[in-house]
Amino acid sequence: MYVTESVAGPTMLEEYPPHHHSVAGFTAGCGGMMDWTRMKGFDDSTYGESFADVYDDWYEDVSDVDATTTLVAELARGGGVLELGVGTGRLAIPLARAGCKVVGIDSSEAMLERCRTKAGGLSIELILGDMVESQPDRRFDAVLIAYNTVFSLQSAERQQSLFDAVARRLTDVGTFIIEAAVPDPERKAGGTVGVRSMHADRVVLSVDVHHPDDQRVDGQFVEFTETGGVRLRPWSIRYSSPEQLDQMAVRAGLRLRDRWEDMSKSPFVADSPTHVSVYTR
Ligand SMILES: C[S@@+](CC[C@H](N)C(=O)[O-])C[C@H]1O[C@@H](n2cnc3c(N)ncnc32)[C@H](O)[C@@H]1O
Repeated sequence: MYVTESVAGPTMLEEYPPHHHSVAGFTAGCGGMMDWTRMKGFDDSTYGESFADVYDDWYEDVSDVDATTTLVAELARGGGVLELGVGTGRLAIPLARAGCKVVGIDSSEAMLERCRTKAGGLSIELILGDMVESQPDRRFDAVLIAYNTVFSLQSAERQQSLFDAVARRLTDVGTFIIEAAVPDPERKAGGTVGVRSMHADRVVLSVDVHHPDDQRVDGQFVEFTETGGVRLRPWSIRYSSPEQLDQMAVRAGLRLRDRWEDMSKSPFVADSPTHVSVYTR
Protein backbone atom coordinates (compact mmCIF):
# COMPACT_ATOMS: atom_id res chain seq x y z
CA MET A 1 0.00 0.00 0.00
CA TYR A 2 1.26 3.48 -0.81
CA VAL A 3 0.03 6.72 0.68
CA THR A 4 -0.23 9.98 -1.24
CA GLU A 5 -1.71 13.31 -0.32
CA SER A 6 -5.26 13.71 -1.62
CA VAL A 7 -5.63 16.53 -4.14
CA ALA A 8 -9.33 17.12 -3.62
CA GLY A 9 -9.53 16.71 0.15
CA PRO A 10 -12.56 15.11 1.81
CA THR A 11 -15.91 15.32 0.03
CA MET A 12 -19.32 15.56 1.68
CA LEU A 13 -19.65 11.79 1.74
CA GLU A 14 -16.29 11.01 3.34
CA GLU A 15 -17.74 11.58 6.76
CA TYR A 16 -21.18 10.52 7.93
CA PRO A 17 -22.73 12.86 8.62
CA PRO A 18 -20.38 15.20 6.76
CA HIS A 19 -18.56 17.68 8.96
CA HIS A 20 -17.37 21.13 8.00
CA HIS A 21 -14.18 20.88 10.01
CA SER A 22 -12.67 17.94 8.16
CA VAL A 23 -9.09 18.47 7.14
CA ALA A 24 -7.18 17.35 4.10
CA GLY A 25 -6.84 13.59 3.96
CA PHE A 26 -4.56 11.07 2.39
CA THR A 27 -5.59 8.57 -0.25
CA ALA A 28 -4.45 5.00 -0.02
CA GLY A 29 -3.93 3.40 -3.43
CA CYS A 30 -6.24 0.65 -4.64
CA GLY A 31 -3.42 -1.65 -5.62
CA GLY A 32 -1.20 -3.35 -3.10
CA MET A 33 -2.35 -5.66 -0.34
CA MET A 34 -5.49 -3.96 0.96
CA ASP A 35 -8.66 -6.09 1.18
CA TRP A 36 -11.53 -3.84 -0.02
CA THR A 37 -14.40 -6.10 1.06
CA ARG A 38 -17.29 -4.45 2.88
CA MET A 39 -17.33 -3.80 6.60
CA LYS A 40 -18.61 -6.90 8.39
CA GLY A 41 -20.58 -6.76 11.61
CA PHE A 42 -22.27 -3.42 10.88
CA ASP A 43 -26.04 -3.30 11.41
CA ASP A 44 -28.80 -0.68 11.78
CA SER A 45 -27.99 0.17 15.39
CA THR A 46 -24.19 0.19 15.11
CA TYR A 47 -23.86 3.84 14.11
CA GLY A 48 -26.10 5.21 16.86
CA GLU A 49 -24.65 3.05 19.59
CA SER A 50 -21.09 4.01 18.55
CA PHE A 51 -21.62 7.77 18.21
CA ALA A 52 -24.21 8.65 20.87
CA ASP A 53 -21.58 9.78 23.39
CA VAL A 54 -19.89 12.23 21.00
CA TYR A 55 -22.71 13.05 18.57
CA ASP A 56 -23.67 16.44 19.96
CA ASP A 57 -20.05 17.50 20.46
CA TRP A 58 -19.05 16.52 16.95
CA TYR A 59 -22.19 17.33 14.95
CA GLU A 60 -24.11 20.02 16.79
CA ASP A 61 -23.37 22.58 14.05
CA VAL A 62 -23.25 20.22 11.10
CA SER A 63 -26.27 21.87 9.49
CA ASP A 64 -28.39 24.97 9.95
CA VAL A 65 -30.80 24.05 12.75
CA ASP A 66 -32.72 27.36 12.64
CA ALA A 67 -33.29 27.13 8.90
CA THR A 68 -34.37 23.50 9.25
CA THR A 69 -36.83 24.37 12.00
CA THR A 70 -38.30 27.25 9.99
CA LEU A 71 -38.70 25.22 6.80
CA VAL A 72 -40.11 22.07 8.40
CA ALA A 73 -42.51 24.03 10.64
CA GLU A 74 -43.68 25.96 7.56
CA LEU A 75 -44.26 22.76 5.56
CA ALA A 76 -45.97 21.04 8.49
CA ARG A 77 -48.13 24.12 9.14
CA GLY A 78 -47.83 23.48 12.86
CA GLY A 79 -49.08 19.89 12.48
CA GLY A 80 -47.52 16.48 13.01
CA VAL A 81 -43.89 15.84 12.06
CA LEU A 82 -42.28 12.41 11.90
CA GLU A 83 -38.47 12.51 12.05
CA LEU A 84 -36.74 9.36 10.81
CA GLY A 85 -33.41 8.73 12.56
CA VAL A 86 -34.13 11.35 15.22
CA GLY A 87 -30.83 10.74 17.02
CA THR A 88 -30.18 12.99 20.01
CA GLY A 89 -32.98 15.39 19.04
CA ARG A 90 -30.68 18.00 17.49
CA LEU A 91 -33.58 18.93 15.15
CA ALA A 92 -36.59 17.36 16.87
CA ILE A 93 -36.23 19.45 20.04
CA PRO A 94 -36.20 22.84 18.26
CA LEU A 95 -39.09 21.63 16.09
CA ALA A 96 -41.12 20.75 19.19
CA ARG A 97 -40.26 24.15 20.69
CA ALA A 98 -41.54 25.74 17.46
CA GLY A 99 -44.93 24.15 18.11
CA CYS A 100 -44.78 21.00 15.95
CA LYS A 101 -46.11 17.70 17.30
CA VAL A 102 -42.98 15.60 16.81
CA VAL A 103 -42.62 11.83 16.65
CA GLY A 104 -39.06 10.53 16.34
CA ILE A 105 -37.86 7.03 15.41
CA ASP A 106 -34.38 5.71 15.96
CA SER A 107 -32.79 2.27 16.03
CA SER A 108 -30.37 3.25 18.81
CA GLU A 109 -31.46 3.31 22.44
CA ALA A 110 -28.29 5.23 23.33
CA MET A 111 -29.27 8.03 20.92
CA LEU A 112 -32.87 8.10 22.19
CA GLU A 113 -31.73 8.22 25.82
CA ARG A 114 -29.76 11.40 25.04
CA CYS A 115 -32.78 12.85 23.25
CA ARG A 116 -35.07 12.10 26.20
CA THR A 117 -32.67 13.75 28.65
CA LYS A 118 -32.24 16.85 26.50
CA ALA A 119 -35.99 17.17 25.77
CA GLY A 120 -36.78 17.47 29.49
CA GLY A 121 -40.47 18.34 29.80
CA LEU A 122 -41.01 18.87 26.06
CA SER A 123 -43.53 16.51 24.51
CA ILE A 124 -41.79 14.41 21.86
CA GLU A 125 -42.93 10.85 21.16
CA LEU A 126 -39.90 8.60 20.70
CA ILE A 127 -40.00 5.15 19.13
CA LEU A 128 -37.15 2.65 19.34
CA GLY A 129 -37.18 0.77 16.05
CA ASP A 130 -36.40 0.62 12.38
CA MET A 131 -37.38 3.69 10.37
CA VAL A 132 -38.87 1.52 7.60
CA GLU A 133 -40.70 -1.06 9.70
CA SER A 134 -41.68 0.89 12.83
CA GLN A 135 -43.42 3.98 11.53
CA PRO A 136 -46.61 4.58 13.54
CA ASP A 137 -49.89 3.79 11.82
CA ARG A 138 -51.12 7.37 11.38
CA ARG A 139 -50.80 10.36 9.05
CA PHE A 140 -48.23 13.16 9.24
CA ASP A 141 -48.11 16.63 7.72
CA ALA A 142 -44.34 16.37 7.25
CA VAL A 143 -41.84 13.53 7.38
CA LEU A 144 -38.21 14.60 7.77
CA ILE A 145 -35.06 12.62 7.14
CA ALA A 146 -32.08 14.91 7.67
CA TYR A 147 -28.40 14.96 6.94
CA ASN A 148 -27.74 11.84 4.86
CA THR A 149 -29.70 9.62 7.23
CA VAL A 150 -31.56 8.15 4.23
CA PHE A 151 -28.20 6.69 3.16
CA SER A 152 -27.95 4.71 6.39
CA LEU A 153 -30.41 2.28 4.75
CA GLN A 154 -27.95 -0.13 3.25
CA SER A 155 -29.53 -0.94 -0.13
CA ALA A 156 -31.62 0.65 -2.87
CA GLU A 157 -34.41 -1.77 -1.92
CA ARG A 158 -34.45 -0.55 1.70
CA GLN A 159 -34.48 3.07 0.52
CA GLN A 160 -37.40 2.27 -1.82
CA SER A 161 -39.24 0.61 1.09
CA LEU A 162 -38.74 3.79 3.08
CA PHE A 163 -40.39 5.88 0.34
CA ASP A 164 -43.25 3.35 0.18
CA ALA A 165 -43.78 3.48 3.95
CA VAL A 166 -43.63 7.29 4.06
CA ALA A 167 -46.09 7.61 1.15
CA ARG A 168 -48.63 5.65 3.23
CA ARG A 169 -48.18 8.06 6.18
CA LEU A 170 -48.46 11.44 4.44
CA THR A 171 -51.65 13.48 4.67
CA ASP A 172 -53.10 14.55 1.30
CA VAL A 173 -50.94 17.70 1.31
CA GLY A 174 -48.17 16.21 3.46
CA THR A 175 -44.50 16.49 2.46
CA PHE A 176 -41.48 14.19 2.67
CA ILE A 177 -38.32 16.27 3.23
CA ILE A 178 -34.94 14.70 2.47
CA GLU A 179 -31.64 16.44 3.19
CA ALA A 180 -28.63 14.70 1.67
CA ALA A 181 -25.32 15.13 -0.10
CA VAL A 182 -25.07 14.96 -3.87
CA PRO A 183 -22.64 12.11 -4.58
CA ASP A 184 -19.50 13.05 -6.50
CA PRO A 185 -19.43 10.87 -9.65
CA GLU A 186 -15.68 11.53 -9.99
CA ARG A 187 -14.78 10.11 -6.59
CA LYS A 188 -12.41 7.22 -7.06
CA ALA A 189 -12.68 3.77 -5.54
CA GLY A 190 -10.50 3.00 -2.59
CA GLY A 191 -9.46 4.22 0.78
CA THR A 192 -8.84 7.58 2.42
CA VAL A 193 -7.09 8.28 5.71
CA GLY A 194 -7.24 11.72 7.30
CA VAL A 195 -6.92 13.48 10.62
CA ARG A 196 -10.23 14.57 12.09
CA SER A 197 -8.92 16.21 15.24
CA MET A 198 -5.71 16.35 17.26
CA HIS A 199 -4.92 17.40 20.82
CA ALA A 200 -1.85 16.84 22.98
CA ASP A 201 -3.40 13.75 24.56
CA ARG A 202 -5.57 12.39 21.72
CA VAL A 203 -5.93 12.07 17.97
CA VAL A 204 -8.94 11.02 15.90
CA LEU A 205 -8.19 9.56 12.47
CA SER A 206 -10.87 9.27 9.79
CA VAL A 207 -10.58 6.15 7.64
CA ASP A 208 -12.99 5.26 4.85
CA VAL A 209 -13.31 3.06 1.79
CA HIS A 210 -15.40 3.92 -1.27
CA HIS A 211 -17.05 1.10 -3.27
CA PRO A 212 -18.48 2.93 -6.32
CA ASP A 213 -20.03 -0.19 -7.87
CA ASP A 214 -22.17 -0.64 -4.74
CA GLN A 215 -22.61 3.13 -4.17
CA ARG A 216 -21.23 2.53 -0.71
CA VAL A 217 -18.79 4.20 1.66
CA ASP A 218 -17.67 2.42 4.83
CA GLY A 219 -15.74 4.33 7.45
CA GLN A 220 -14.23 4.37 10.90
CA PHE A 221 -13.19 7.14 13.24
CA VAL A 222 -10.25 5.76 15.16
CA GLU A 223 -9.56 7.59 18.40
CA PHE A 224 -6.27 7.13 20.21
CA THR A 225 -6.00 8.55 23.70
CA GLU A 226 -3.15 8.59 26.18
CA THR A 227 -5.27 7.03 28.91
CA GLY A 228 -8.14 5.26 27.08
CA GLY A 229 -6.34 3.32 24.37
CA VAL A 230 -8.12 2.92 21.04
CA ARG A 231 -11.84 3.53 20.34
CA LEU A 232 -13.53 2.70 17.02
CA ARG A 233 -16.63 4.48 15.71
CA PRO A 234 -17.85 2.77 12.50
CA TRP A 235 -20.25 4.16 9.90
CA SER A 236 -21.54 2.89 6.59
CA ILE A 237 -23.71 4.46 3.90
CA ARG A 238 -25.30 3.39 0.63
CA TYR A 239 -25.63 6.67 -1.25
CA SER A 240 -28.14 7.58 -3.97
CA SER A 241 -28.17 10.47 -6.42
CA PRO A 242 -31.03 12.98 -6.37
CA GLU A 243 -32.30 11.42 -9.62
CA GLN A 244 -32.34 7.94 -8.05
CA LEU A 245 -34.28 9.29 -5.07
CA ASP A 246 -36.75 10.92 -7.48
CA GLN A 247 -37.31 7.57 -9.18
CA MET A 248 -37.99 5.92 -5.81
CA ALA A 249 -40.48 8.68 -5.03
CA VAL A 250 -42.33 8.13 -8.32
CA ARG A 251 -42.50 4.38 -7.68
CA ALA A 252 -44.03 5.18 -4.28
CA GLY A 253 -46.65 7.46 -5.84
CA LEU A 254 -44.95 10.73 -4.88
CA ARG A 255 -43.53 13.58 -6.96
CA LEU A 256 -40.79 16.14 -6.46
CA ARG A 257 -42.36 19.45 -5.42
CA ASP A 258 -39.25 21.52 -4.61
CA ARG A 259 -35.51 21.07 -4.56
CA TRP A 260 -33.10 23.51 -2.95
CA GLU A 261 -29.42 23.34 -2.09
CA ASP A 262 -30.09 23.71 1.62
CA MET A 263 -32.73 24.35 4.24
CA SER A 264 -32.48 28.12 3.60
CA LYS A 265 -33.89 27.52 0.11
CA SER A 266 -30.68 28.47 -1.72
CA PRO A 267 -31.15 27.59 -5.40
CA PHE A 268 -30.14 24.06 -6.37
CA VAL A 269 -27.57 24.29 -9.19
CA ALA A 270 -25.47 21.86 -11.24
CA ASP A 271 -22.60 21.79 -8.72
CA SER A 272 -24.61 21.99 -5.49
CA PRO A 273 -22.92 19.69 -2.96
CA THR A 274 -26.16 19.04 -1.07
CA HIS A 275 -29.88 18.99 -1.73
CA VAL A 276 -33.05 19.42 0.22
CA SER A 277 -35.82 17.69 -1.69
CA VAL A 278 -39.50 17.97 -0.90
CA TYR A 279 -41.83 15.24 -2.17
CA THR A 280 -45.60 15.18 -2.07
CA ARG A 281 -48.50 13.27 -3.64
C1 LIG B 1 -26.64 11.01 11.24
S1 LIG B 1 -27.67 10.63 12.59
C2 LIG B 1 -28.86 11.94 12.42
C3 LIG B 1 -29.53 12.32 13.71
C4 LIG B 1 -30.45 13.55 13.61
N1 LIG B 1 -31.47 13.38 12.62
C5 LIG B 1 -29.62 14.79 13.30
O1 LIG B 1 -29.79 15.37 12.20
O2 LIG B 1 -28.81 15.17 14.14
C6 LIG B 1 -28.53 9.20 11.96
C7 LIG B 1 -29.45 8.55 12.95
O3 LIG B 1 -30.19 7.54 12.28
C8 LIG B 1 -30.29 6.40 13.13
N2 LIG B 1 -30.54 5.23 12.28
C9 LIG B 1 -29.68 4.59 11.45
N3 LIG B 1 -30.30 3.56 10.85
C10 LIG B 1 -31.57 3.54 11.30
C11 LIG B 1 -32.72 2.73 11.04
N4 LIG B 1 -32.67 1.70 10.17
N5 LIG B 1 -33.87 3.01 11.67
C12 LIG B 1 -33.95 4.03 12.56
N6 LIG B 1 -32.90 4.84 12.85
C13 LIG B 1 -31.74 4.61 12.23
C14 LIG B 1 -28.97 6.38 13.88
O4 LIG B 1 -29.06 5.63 15.08
C15 LIG B 1 -28.73 7.87 14.11
O5 LIG B 1 -29.27 8.30 15.32
